[in-house]
This record gives sequence, C-alpha cells and structure tokens, in this order.
Amino acid sequence: MPKIKLRYQRVSDAKRFYEILNNPNFIYISLKLKSIQEEKEWLAKGKERRKNNLSYDFAIVYQNKVIGAVGVRVNPHLKGNGDIGYFIDEAYWGKGIATEAVKLIEKFAYKVLKLYRLELRIKPKNKASIKVAIKNGYRKEGLLRGRKGKNEDCYLFAKVKD
Ligand SMILES: CC(C)(COP(=O)(O)OP(=O)(O)OC[C@H]1O[C@@H](n2cnc3c(N)ncnc32)[C@H](O)[C@@H]1OP(=O)(O)O)[C@@H](O)C(=O)NCCC(=O)NCCS
Repeated sequence: MPKIKLRYQRVSDAKRFYEILNNPNFIYISLKLKSIQEEKEWLAKGKERRKNNLSYDFAIVYQNKVIGAVGVRVNPHLKGNGDIGYFIDEAYWGKGIATEAVKLIEKFAYKVLKLYRLELRIKPKNKASIKVAIKNGYRKEGLLRGRKGKNEDCYLFAKVKD
C-alpha cells in the first residue's frame, strides 16, 4: 500500500488542484474549475465549512507532493450520514492511492465526526472509482436516476459502520 498522508487543504494548494483537475481525462467528475482564483476562493472557505460541520476537505500527500484530494460532506438532514468524494492526479493512477485515501477518511469520519453511514455516488462508466468502492467494502444500493443531470444516472454505494 502506498504511504499517503491527509492534511487539510490550504489556499496555496489552488494551483496544484487546478492543474490536476484540468485534465481532459477526468470525464466522470462534474467538478470543473474556471480559474485558479475560483479554486482559491473555495479553499479559503474550508475552515468555515469545517466550523459549520458541512464538509472536511483534505489534500492527499504522497512522497511530499500533493497528488489529489479527498473529502467528506456531512448530511445536514440525516444525522450520522455523510458522503465521500475524491480525485487523484492521473500520473499516480493505479497505485492504490484512492483506495487508501478512502480508508483514511473513513476512519476520520467514524472516529472524529461520529458518522456511521458513508455514501459514494459514482457514474456507471467510472470503473476505476467503482473498484475503489468495492475494494473498501462499499455495497451498491441502487441506481440514482437523473442524479447527475436529467439524463445522467449514478450508482449509490454505501457502507454502514459495524
Ligand atoms: C477514480 C480515481 C480516483 C481512482 O484513483 P486510483 O488511485 O487510480 O485508484 P486505485 O489505484 O486505488 O484503484 C483503482 C482500481 O481500478 C482499476 N481500474 C482503473 N481503470 C479501470 C478500468 N477502466 N476498468 C476497470 N478497472 C479499472 C485499477 O486497476 C485499480 O484496481 P486494482 O487495485 O485491482 O488494480 C482516479 O481515476 C481519478 O481521480 N479519476 C478522476 C476523478 C474521479 O473520477 N473521481 C471519482 C468520482 S466518483
């Protein structure tokens, strides 16, 4: 397993995230950035999102380099529920990094946030992400029709703490 670390995202990560996300091969993720400035503005509000218990967003650090991100969003309507999202720089795909990052954020969500149910929403064609979910023991609960736009469905994967 690769040795990765998670740390809270910083405004100074903006350029790196912009670079990673601006990849034409990121076809199954809806996150599209217009500019580094837009990313800076999002990152600047990270602390406030944590303070308001909305989301906890981390940079993934591997060999001292930021190579991706993983975050957990707390469901404000369903106590104990949250959902996870992630992306990895293409240069680092296939090394088990997303799988490891989900394991780490899961621990954080269970222990620190006291969540017990975690969800992942994944487009059916995103085979790599489906593999990440399955390798971490998430179960497919169904197809959410029109969840990503009128004609864009996605699978719901979830894990409930033992
Ligand atoms: C999805 C993503 C996060 C996976 O990251 P990663 O670090 O490469 O994931 P891992 O290495 O932990 O696991 C990926 C698995 O999928 C497999 N895989 C990759 N492409 C695949 C494909 N087209 N078909 C089937 N399996 C595939 C890999 O071989 C690996 O499985 P293995 O460990 O059994 O070999 C990365 O591809 C990414 O950032 N994509 C763009 C953003 C995105 O889609 N985010 C998720 C939104 S739900």
